[in-house]
Parts: sequence; C-alpha cells; structure tokens
Amino acid sequence: MKTTTDFLKMKTQGEKIVMITAYDYPTATFSEQADVDMILVGDSLGMVVLGYDSTMPVTVEDMIHHSKAVRRGAKDTFIVVDMPFGSYHGDPNEALKTAVKMIQETGANALKLEGAGEVLEVIKKLTKAGIPVVSHLGLLPQSASVLGGYKVQGKTSEQAEQLIKDAKACEDAGACAVVLECIPYQLTEVVTKELIIPTIGIGAGPYADGQVLVFHDLVNFGNHHVPKFVQTFSFVGEEVERGVKGYTKAVKDGTFPTLEQSFTMKEQVLTTLYG
Ligand code: KIV
Ligand code: NA
Repeated sequence: MKTTTDFLKMKTQGEKIVMITAYDYPTATFSEQADVDMILVGDSLGMVVLGYDSTMPVTVEDMIHHSKAVRRGAKDTFIVVDMPFGSYHGDPNEALKTAVKMIQETGANALKLEGAGEVLEVIKKLTKAGIPVVSHLGLLPQSASVLGGYKVQGKTSEQAEQLIKDAKACEDAGACAVVLECIPYQLTEVVTKELIIPTIGIGAGPYADGQVLVFHDLVNFGNHHVPKFVQTFSFVGEEVERGVKGYTKAVKDGTFPTLEQSFTMKEQVLTTLYG
C-alpha cells in the first residue's frame, strides 16, 4: 500500500496521482484492480448511491458503513474517507473523537475535510493525533448553499489569493494533500507550485499533481447530474439498462429460464413425485 511519503515523492518526481471514489465492495474491487493510487469514499455517496440531492444528509454512520465495504474490496489501497457535513465544525475535541471512530471502525488511512479557516484547528488536532488529513478547497459541496450553488471558485483576484493562502495554511496545519475542486487551471498551477504536498484536482485542469473523479461519473452509471468537467471513459449505465430490460422481457416472454438453466431429479424419484 502506498503511504503519504510515497505521494510526496510522486509529486517531486512528476508522477501523476490517480484517485477515484468508491462506495462499496464492487467499486472498491474494480478500483484496486485498476491500480489507482488512492480511493476516496466521498460523501458524493449521498448523490450517486443514496439518491439525495446534496451531500448534506450524509451521516457519520453512512460513511462508516460504506467505508467498511470499500476496505473489504480494496485491502491494499490507501483509502481516504470524507468527514460528512456537520461532523467537524463544533468542538474540535468532538471532531477528533468522531475522526478516531471513523478511522478505527473503517480501517481507512486518512480523512478529508472541506475548507480552511475554522477547520485549520481540526486539521492540526487530527494530524497531531496521528490521523492523516486531506484538505478540500475551491468548490465545497458541503457549503454549496452558502456559496450560491455548484459554481467555479477562485475566479477573482481576491478569491484566488484567499485560496492560495488557505492552501498554504492547510499545509502548515499538517494536511498531507489537498483536493482542489472547480477552480481555473491557472490557479491550480500556482497552488501546485507553491505547495510541498500534492494537489489533486477535480474540474481544476491538468496542472494538479493528481486527479480525482467520481466513479459513477467516469463510467456513466446512474441518473444523477454529471458535471461538465467529467470525461466518460465507459458507458456502464447503458449496459445495465440493456440487462435489466432484457431480463424483464425474457421472463414475460417465457424464454427465461430454459430447462437447461433448471435443475432436474432422478427417474425413480420422479415416478413417486408424479405418481
Ligand atoms: O465526495 C466526493 O466525491 C469528493 C470529490 C468530488 C473530491 O469530495
Ligand atoms: Na466530498
């Protein structure tokens, strides 16, 4: 399994870091078999798997339940788990307790927290306690209602400067990497140059040290909204639709199951059965 030291080395050597989200045993298995560098159990879980329209209803228990399945499917991959909305904004000691519980119960390697500012103290606390923290800056889905929706961030010079400051503050607080979501690629380039720790972009252009995409987005599986920056690498949804419709039709038509797909019994037993 790779470590945070390996990710630092990958940055200095210019080797791209591949991160993907996973939410259950099969998505974790596919991800580990594809040799991704890190798996994120994202709270995007709420949208792509649980059918909510934002990440805000996702609970600590939801994250733990799904992360355990991901760990069972990806025993040798570095796993980052999102701390969900509301689980790290109150008393930092409570946040630490929650973080310890999430790590202990899931066997994850790191936790991801959105934002800087007030959250910096929590990043410090977790890191000091031995829990690696991945920061998340730019578009913060857990704050979408305050940010005025899912919009590109860091487009003005004030916003851009703030983001650079925040990124450095996260690094100083002990973060081992920072996810940059939905910011102009030029800003990603600057932040990536200024930081020692790796940047992992999503909708942030090609100049980050790594990339992350939502599993269901990149294989086009599901009926949630897919953002414009996503590339579709396969069309799983179409195949699933074909399968489920085909099965339904075959049962209705009586073409499934056939006798070849059925079990039989010995002749002697049959005579007693049919009389
Ligand atoms: O929850 C998630 O999937 C994420 C990624 C988009 C970075 O936080
Ligand atoms: Na997330």
